[in-house]
Amino acid sequence: MGKPFVYVTRKVPEHCLEELREFAEIEMWQEEEIPVKREVLLEKAAKAEGIITMLSDKVDRELMDAAPNLKVIANLAVGFDNIDVKTATEKGIVVSNTPDVLTDTTADLTFGLLMATARRLPEAVNYVKAGEWKNWGPLLMAGKDIHHKTIGIVGMGRIGATVAKRATGFDMNILYHNRSRKPEAEADLGARYVSFDELIEESDYVVCLAPMTEDTKDLFNYDVFKQMKTSAIFVNASRGGVVLEDDLQRALDEKEIAAAGLDVFRQEPIDADHPLLAYDNVVALPHIGSASVETREEMTRMVGRHVANVFVGRKPEYVVNESVF
Ligand code: DGY
Repeated sequence: MGKPFVYVTRKVPEHCLEELREFAEIEMWQEEEIPVKREVLLEKAAKAEGIITMLSDKVDRELMDAAPNLKVIANLAVGFDNIDVKTATEKGIVVSNTPDVLTDTTADLTFGLLMATARRLPEAVNYVKAGEWKNWGPLLMAGKDIHHKTIGIVGMGRIGATVAKRATGFDMNILYHNRSRKPEAEADLGARYVSFDELIEESDYVVCLAPMTEDTKDLFNYDVFKQMKTSAIFVNASRGGVVLEDDLQRALDEKEIAAAGLDVFRQEPIDADHPLLAYDNVVALPHIGSASVETREEMTRMVGRHVANVFVGRKPEYVVNESVF
């Protein structure tokens, strides 16, 4: 009997899948930035026992119906809102993700985005490169302080707590809102649990790290932005679907908030003509939360291990739908 077939939906560092190669025949879509064509994915899925997917792949019932032998979907991300987990569970397909390994890297990026937005770094870089810097000025490119300000973290999971840890180094006052209290974050980091409304009203920096669920979808609407301080900076490193982007734009136009740092968008990649990109006080990134070479390689090794685990009848380290076991 041949080895089980695994399809990888994007070109990932191949050397990180060496371990899996002992257990599986692996084929990979050969583009790094162009997603696999749907018809190709459906065709490959037909014979696959495992697929390694990206957060930009739609893993829905149609795909799973086309994959009668599928045992495992290993998502190269901590978020898994791109996967119809309910259908996978119904069909007994294991769904895994990659938490922990990307926590520090994503927290670094989130805090970096906060800093870049507060201190207007992209604007300042462009200003120098465009030759506009003629003189030093007392308020030239003056931004907002970060130290000793209040950060409000919506979604105090692993990444939220790690952003809070970074905030302690800046002597920030830390508020958080989460589905459940986090006693460790309170004891170790001095974070204070508050209602969503209190967090929105009191924070200088509102940072969203909550996963995308039915509860968080469209959470940040005009009324929420209007409730924030007019000096507040909004940072989103979770999923674009938590923000109503037209409402964010209106809030920026009406100066209800000061600026926004966004790593994620409702439609990714965001169109270059998207109105949000025209604002100087919007810092936009191409969803690079976990994008360091080390972390992406480790994530790739991890999904490879997850698939191999399932093939040998072992439960992977991180399973989203525990009930299949
Ligand atoms: C993920 O992996 O889900 C995050 O978006 C990190 O970038």
